[in-house]
This record gives sequence, structure tokens and C-alpha cells, in this order.
Amino acid sequence: MKNIELPFVRDMFNAIAPRYDLLNRLLSLRQDVYWRRKMISRIKIPEQATILDMACGTGDVILEIIRQKGTGNTVIGSDFSSGMLQLADKKIKSEASASQIFLVAGNALQMPFKPEIFDSVTIAFGIRNINDKLSALKAFHYGLKKDGMLAVLELTTPQKRFFRSLYLFYFRKILPMIGRLVSGKIKAYQYLPDSVLNFPSSRDFADIMLSAGFSNVKWQKLTFGIATLYTGKK
Ligand SMILES: C[S@@+](CC[C@H](N)C(=O)[O-])C[C@H]1O[C@@H](n2cnc3c(N)ncnc32)[C@H](O)[C@@H]1O
Repeated sequence: MKNIELPFVRDMFNAIAPRYDLLNRLLSLRQDVYWRRKMISRIKIPEQATILDMACGTGDVILEIIRQKGTGNTVIGSDFSSGMLQLADKKIKSEASASQIFLVAGNALQMPFKPEIFDSVTIAFGIRNINDKLSALKAFHYGLKKDGMLAVLELTTPQKRFFRSLYLFYFRKILPMIGRLVSGKIKAYQYLPDSVLNFPSSRDFADIMLSAGFSNVKWQKLTFGIATLYTGKK
């Protein structure tokens, strides 16, 4: 499957970048902060590790890695939206001066990195925007050292019936309205529910991770299944 949405997705993130953090906190009632914290607490890395955060956006995962794992590591954030990367750069400069952080403009499907250099690869709320998930996961696998760990955090749809109906109402009706009012962009916050509702089931996504070469693939549902954290080992 070709990544046909690519230019649309990049333009969309460039357009919403200035309001991205505010809307994340608002629309998830700050659960996004807790989910990233959880993801980073699950990754196991050696001392002086090299970590890639793909689809790093405005840099929240990078900052969480520094908070939890210390400043002795090298963290590389990569994203294909220059608007998001510029905001990441600003935030990192004001919040994490002592750390070794590098930002790289790049597409997850054409990673500009040598093989087997990362102790861990993380991607938060990015994989659902990539149509060709298998190729992206294979690229992460290629970039990881042996025994390196992949962590994927993604928005998912709750399965329990009552909560699911409530959530779908919020997600389809309320969220696009707030998103439009705060960001001034209509399409982005209509695309968001579609991209989440079309995301594969936990089992199916775990199978794609296995097909990409990962082992020990596990997943954990967070906040009633609104988000899911997947991990796997090379
Ligand atoms: C929802 S944001 C998540 C940002 C950040 N990881 C976070 O936790 O807030 C998705 C990000 O994925 C990036 N993205 C989407 N598809 C990509 C691709 N093929 N290659 C690189 N970045 C991509 C977008 O530019 C955007 O910054």
C-alpha cells in the first residue's frame, strides 16, 4: 500500500502546529501527558543509549525521555513537518539544555539512518498517519540494534459498549468542533476521528509488528482503551 496521504498529512500538521500542544492537552484532558510518561517508563535502555523518537512532533516524547532516563543519552527526534520541528526546537532549547538532542527532518518510510544504531525507537500518535505501517515498522526494525526495543503509542477505540458510545459521540461530534474553534482548521480535526477509527485492532497491529520482524510483542490498553501502548523487541 502506498503512503498516499503523505503530502496531506504533512500540510495538515504544518497548519495546526501552533495550536497542537494546547489542543492535545484540552481534547485528551491531559491524558496525553500520562500516556507518554507510561510509554517511556516501559522502555528499557542501557546507559548512554541512543534513542530515536520518530514523528516527534513538538518534542513531548523527547522531553519525557530526558526527564525519565537522564541526560546521558542521545535522543534523535525526527518528523517530516517543519512546522512541528520548529516548535520542538524551541521547547527543547528552553527545557533541556544539557542534553544531547538532535532534530532531523525525515520521513518514517525513508529513514536517513544507518542500520542497527538505536537502542530504542519510539513513536507516539504517529503510526496511524502512515498508511504503509508494515514498511514503517520494518524501517524501525532496521534502525534498531539487536535486543533494541520499539514502543508505539497510539489512539485507539474503546471496546466496552457503553463507554464506546459515549466516546464515539465525543470523538465524532464534540472534538472536531473544539478542534476547529481553537485551531481554525476544519479538515485536521475531521481527519483525526477517521484516522483513529480506521486503525487496526490491537491483535492486527501486533501481527503487523510481528511481520516486521519484532518479537515479544505486547500491548496494554490505557484509559479504557482510548490509547494503546505496543512494545516489541528486535
Ligand atoms: C499526532 S502528531 C504526534 C507528535 C508527537 N509524537 C506527540 O507525541 O505529540 C503526529 C506527527 O507525525 C508526523 N508524521 C506523520 N507521518 C509521518 C511520516 N511519514 N514521517 C515522519 N513524520 C510523520 C506529523 O508530522 C506529526 O508531527
